Amino acid sequence: MTDSSFAAITQSAIDSMAKAPNARLRDVLSVVLRHLHDAIRETRLTAAEWEAVIAFLTRTGETCSAERQEFILLSDFLGVSMLVDALNHASGSGVSESTVFGPFYAGRQPILPVGTSILKRAEKGASLRMRGTVRSQDGTPTSGALVEVWQAAPNGLYDVQDPAQPAGHLRASFETAADGSFAFETILPVSYAIPDDGPVGDLLQALGRHPNRPAHIHFMITATGCRPLVTHLFIDGDPYLESDAVFGVKSSLVVRPQRRADGSLAIDYPFTLAGAAMGQDG
Ligand code: BEZ
Ligand code: FE
Repeated sequence: MTDSSFAAITQSAIDSMAKAPNARLRDVLSVVLRHLHDAIRETRLTAAEWEAVIAFLTRTGETCSAERQEFILLSDFLGVSMLVDALNHASGSGVSESTVFGPFYAGRQPILPVGTSILKRAEKGASLRMRGTVRSQDGTPTSGALVEVWQAAPNGLYDVQDPAQPAGHLRASFETAADGSFAFETILPVSYAIPDDGPVGDLLQALGRHPNRPAHIHFMITATGCRPLVTHLFIDGDPYLESDAVFGVKSSLVVRPQRRADGSLAIDYPFTLAGAAMGQDG
């Protein structure tokens, strides 16, 4: 077969979608098909290698359950989640930066009073008081914003991964006060490994990559008239800040906890949300 007959296969596959009623679907798939076919041609992929790809994707699907989302993990560790995020969220212009959502959000939690602990059992970690303010881009404090938070326990696992943890441990929702503030008590987060006992873990190992994420707390902030913000705060000094397994670190999200008089730690962070109508690049 000649290179031109390989190209004819690609063109036939693209042409087969010409009458698709959904033009966006047709356009996106045409580009994906072109790049996929190019990659296969360029690497002279063998039948055995393609079978291995299909077996990998099959295992990835089979590993998904109500508690585990291996496809999100795949998207995260390939850097695709961060690329989609970068394309779709404004940066610059004073707006807080977003990062990867991850697979461990467990739905909306009950709203707790200001200053409450998000622990449902005692843990050995260092006590941390987290305070924040939420403002819209024009600097106005955002009253009544929903601030959802979640973090891993000191054993490196989220409650949804670890049957020994009480449900809802280290996750909660808060509502901002009239001055845009919120606060809660927690423990200093630790770095942890993304789930590496499935197909994504096998691929990480085959690629000589480590599975670790630097210590962080997740935030999802929703307020009327603003774009929702999905982000983390990372802890300064963490050894994995430069090599996050899912490429989620941005320097504006790295914070250094302050030592308080009683020896506990505190973080204060100002979040700024983009306006709801804000476009893709700010
Ligand atoms: C997380 O931070 O919870 C996370 C993000 C991406 C992949 C795995 C975990
Ligand atoms: Fe996390």
